[in-house]
Amino acid sequence: MSGLTLGLETSCDETAAALVGEEGEIVANVVSSQADLHSRYGGVVPEVASRRHLELVAPVLRETFEQGRARLEDVDRVAVTQGPGLMGALLVGLSAAKALAWAQRLPLAPVDHLHGHVASLFLEPDPVDPPFLALLASGGHTLLLDVQHRRGYRVLGTTLDDAAGEAFDKGARLLGLGYPGGAELDRLARDGDPTAHPFPVARVPGFDFSFSGLKTALLYVVRELPADELERRRAGLAASYQRAIVRALVERTLAAAEQLGAERIAVVGGVAANSELRAALPDAALAPLPLCTDNAAMIASAARYLDAIPYPGYLGVDAYASSG
Ligand code: KG4
Ligand code: ZN
Repeated sequence: MSGLTLGLETSCDETAAALVGEEGEIVANVVSSQADLHSRYGGVVPEVASRRHLELVAPVLRETFEQGRARLEDVDRVAVTQGPGLMGALLVGLSAAKALAWAQRLPLAPVDHLHGHVASLFLEPDPVDPPFLALLASGGHTLLLDVQHRRGYRVLGTTLDDAAGEAFDKGARLLGLGYPGGAELDRLARDGDPTAHPFPVARVPGFDFSFSGLKTALLYVVRELPADELERRRAGLAASYQRAIVRALVERTLAAAEQLGAERIAVVGGVAANSELRAALPDAALAPLPLCTDNAAMIASAARYLDAIPYPGYLGVDAYASSG
């Protein structure tokens, strides 16, 4: 085996490594989630995340090579998330990637995490070819992107406050679900009536999004309800709340597609795993379920379209916490 790209991703609370082949085939993909560790705090604690990445990065790498039945000598290039994300967490992955690349005299490709989410669509067995309009909805970002080629994109719109995944997580928390609550809220919503509580969908100009009002609306409803009544209405509240988020995402995306004359819509990021969102855009190219939430295969995928920095010029490369 040769010509492999080794990807590393540690921007938030997933320690992930992957091996991707020359044709974009996934040879190995290992994700170790720290969600359980952070759940008792109701969110990711940055310092705890960095320490855990430090413990997990070597075992995750070892498992990745075992899974792919590959050796470090089979790797041609190392790809790593440079940002945006939690600084301390990013630095663990970046340092590990630099060390590996330097020891093997390999080039290093620093990858933008958001480009990585888009590049989850470029992997085998069903790669999606640009041009397309992409909705990137995750725990940290909600973006509409004009993707004309595989090397990058143009930002058309973003959220003015909370990200869509954040709205799911905060709603889930108000409804007494664990962290991160998006997937659990999705499950609970299946048993509820989405018209039970008409939640407002914020209207903001252009292609931007806003979700903070929705969260406050749910907070007010939940606060007024006695415990037993809340329990009875939980599924209906989850379904209605999810409906409002999905409607906001879908309406904006379809409007942008129409205005741009985009023939194809794609959806990526953790929230792309949402069953109602997937059903609401039946003709869209949807990121494969295991590649929606953070992983390193998407980082290795993005690197295939970037110019890697040749050995040893990357030792001074720094991480960045936010885009732009
Ligand atoms: O892409 P991702 O793993 O991390 C970031 O880059 O932020 O996205 C994680 C987000 C979390 O907010 C999580 O609750 C949400 O994706 N999520 C979902 C579902 N699965 C994950 N939200 C709604 N429905 C789901 N099925
Ligand atoms: Zn992400």
